[in-house]
Amino acid sequence: MTVVKINAITVSDDSGDELARRFAARAGAVDDQDGFEGFELLKPTDDRTTWLVVTRWRDEAAFQAWVSSPSFAHGHRSAAEREGKPAPAHVGVSSELWSYEIAGGSTGATID
Ligand code: HEM
Repeated sequence: MTVVKINAITVSDDSGDELARRFAARAGAVDDQDGFEGFELLKPTDDRTTWLVVTRWRDEAAFQAWVSSPSFAHGHRSAAEREGKPAPAHVGVSSELWSYEIAGGSTGATID
């Protein structure tokens, strides 16, 4: 059964756009992972400063395999670190992992 893992990253007031840039620079880092079903980076449109990385996985084991894999570590290393330079400061002031399963829902009808 699909599991939903959400990394809730709280940023300081003005660093959200930098977070988006860093994600854009790392797009694709997780795409080939076994059991990965997709993710969205959600930016708050009110005055909250918590961004959500909503990821979907085939099952808990697939998610656990990714977070303990070298590819997770690699994907979470900045471009500078990969070149052996010092890491830029994190933009997040804190982050929390939330774990969900899908308990209901529907998709909207599409009219072509
Ligand atoms: C639910 C799964 C995930 C977990 C547990 C996780 C974990 C983390 C953590 C702990 C941080 C540090 C936040 C901070 O600076 O305080 C972070 C930041 C980040 N993550 Fe993830 N992450 C997940 C999914 C992803 C995915 C799917 C991508 C994109 C391929 C990604 C890319 C990034 C980037 C670009 C940052 C910003 C780091 C920076 O400040 O340079 N993460 N993540």
